[in-house]
Amino acid sequence: MRKKIVAGNWKMNTNFQEGIELAKSVADKYTDTKDGQEVVVFPPYLHLSAVVEELKGSKVTIGAQNCHTELKGAYTGEISAGMLQSIGMQYCLVGHSERRAYFFEDDHELTQKLKQLLNSSIQPIFCCGESLEDRKEGSYLEVIEQQLELLWAFSETEFSQMVIAYEPVWAIGTGETATAEQAQEIHAFIRTLIREKMGAALAENTSILYGGSCKPSNANELFGKDDVDGGLIGGAALNADDFLAIVKALN
Ligand code: 13P
Repeated sequence: MRKKIVAGNWKMNTNFQEGIELAKSVADKYTDTKDGQEVVVFPPYLHLSAVVEELKGSKVTIGAQNCHTELKGAYTGEISAGMLQSIGMQYCLVGHSERRAYFFEDDHELTQKLKQLLNSSIQPIFCCGESLEDRKEGSYLEVIEQQLELLWAFSETEFSQMVIAYEPVWAIGTGETATAEQAQEIHAFIRTLIREKMGAALAENTSILYGGSCKPSNANELFGKDDVDGGLIGGAALNADDFLAIVKALN
């Protein structure tokens, strides 16, 4: 049975004190835990080790928003997968559209990051998603297929550690959500690709999350679709009550 996951990507939001407060609030309020369900927060780097402490004894897990392609060395200002492992990170985002767009991350770089994370026993959440232009042109399936292509070079064991997030760029932070039918179409497409490339068992067991203006008012409908295994939440993850209302929609 694949895991249901609600993940909160805080992006570059919250100062240190606000971040600790938010983590504490999520941990305190997440009491209705269910087997096979995971709640994960992705605070900024600066907050990570303090949030690890804050979450101890709770059922909330933690991930990082990014890591570097190398394990160590002269890369001023960067953080490696090994460093993240040493403070107990369980997950890390890879290939978020903001990193692809603003930091020009390409497939080679994303592949390196995935390797580093897997070597450090951190589960990658690999993000994909088409732009508004791709959607209007009707080329969105090709775009998704191309973005996922680099994953097929990994072994089945490596791939089994990965989570996929479908985040249409036109829905991120815009208030415009993909309809549940649009999300289901892409999620089913992704699962079919996994089946073709990696086999039926991995297709069945890989969690595929939806991200892009997911909020308490639309989470039920999105998560009600067969191939939507949860969400990667941006804006609504900055409020513990909204975030946990989205978690409730997993049931
Ligand atoms: P929003 O929920 O703010 O649209 O952001 C989604 C996202 O990019 C999560 O990674």
